[in-house]
Amino acid sequence: MSNVVVIGDALVSSATLKEAAEQLKLPQPIEVTCFDWYADLTKEEFQAKIKIIEQGGPQAVDIPDGILEAMKKAEYLLVHIAPVSKEMLEAAPLLKMIGTSRGGLEHIDLETVSKKKIQLIHVIRNAEPVADFTVGLMYAATRNIGLSHRQVMNGQWPKQFPNDLYKTTLSNLTVGLIGLGYIGKLVVKRLNGLGVKVMAYDPYVDRQKIENEGLQVTFVELEDAFKQADILSLHMRVTPDTTNMINDSLISLMKPSSYLINTARPDILYKPAFIAALKNKKIAGAAIDVVWEEPIQASDPLLTLDNLTITSHIAGDTIDAIPRSPYLLRDVMNEFFDKGSSDMLIRL
Ligand SMILES: NC(=O)c1ccc[n+]([C@@H]2O[C@H](COP(=O)([O-])OP(=O)(O)OC[C@H]3O[C@@H](n4cnc5c(N)ncnc54)[C@H](O)[C@@H]3O)[C@@H](O)[C@H]2O)c1
Repeated sequence: MSNVVVIGDALVSSATLKEAAEQLKLPQPIEVTCFDWYADLTKEEFQAKIKIIEQGGPQAVDIPDGILEAMKKAEYLLVHIAPVSKEMLEAAPLLKMIGTSRGGLEHIDLETVSKKKIQLIHVIRNAEPVADFTVGLMYAATRNIGLSHRQVMNGQWPKQFPNDLYKTTLSNLTVGLIGLGYIGKLVVKRLNGLGVKVMAYDPYVDRQKIENEGLQVTFVELEDAFKQADILSLHMRVTPDTTNMINDSLISLMKPSSYLINTARPDILYKPAFIAALKNKKIAGAAIDVVWEEPIQASDPLLTLDNLTITSHIAGDTIDAIPRSPYLLRDVMNEFFDKGSSDMLIRL
């Protein structure tokens, strides 16, 4: 028998968390006790609660009535962004694992989790949408989908584009990924399915693990990715090392027929070098979901480029990512129960 407590909220229902909990690979029967945390608020009203908990942590908000009593028996706790406070954790002598169906952990008292050696597992729920969008931008950039649309909406019927000399089928191109984390790996999975050759540079990933996951990717040095790839796609986080990492000297290695895609963060790309490469047609084109100033200003030189597709930081926005996140959590937890390890386990 297993005892699971779930706490739903206005964005992720306790019913969905309960269904996911019932599908966990735990000793049967699984007894699930449901609680709600401000589940009756509108999404807009709930945003205010999210802000409080993200800024002030779990102690800054109320916990659900009756939760402390339920925690006495809880072995597993599943939440989205409901608070997991010190008081709750201290009331739970049997608690083995907390699963949270989001990436951020501001709603959890990590100090007490660490002190009590409770396992904590999370999910990166918008990785799939961002990976989809990245491949979408590869199509958009190489085949002028956005550039044509913009002109047609303005009454034109364009047949010529700056990349006319280079237009080719995606499966004939080689994609180079810089950064092979959650999103980068999902991009590889999609490109493998499309029969596109993939190379990657990521000095920190375990190559054997990537191979064991069945991903077909050739690891190359950073400069070689820039020299050889037809499409370069950026998937690093912003760190002191990656800030402005994609600079003049790297961009100058790119082929005139190549494209740059950025769905990660603007600060990893040195803006003046990027603009100059597009303006001087040193590369065939680019597509980006992230810009240096949001919303983009009318005077931004990016808006003058005829070989650039820009979207409004929407790569991660799908309506299903949040409500369906408990099922992703179920899969991650079950994988952990099967293998005894998971990249999604938080090391505190
Ligand atoms: N456009 C959007 O709406 C959107 C949504 C979600 C995430 N993102 C962004 O996507 C990016 C990737 O997210 P993720 O969840 O895959 O991150 P992640 O942390 O899982 O992966 C980042 C990878 O970059 C690698 N890396 C670190 N330094 C590097 C370097 N110098 N060179 C090459 N690789 C390096 C790391 O080893 C890691 O594998 C982040 O910048 C994130 O902010 C964008």
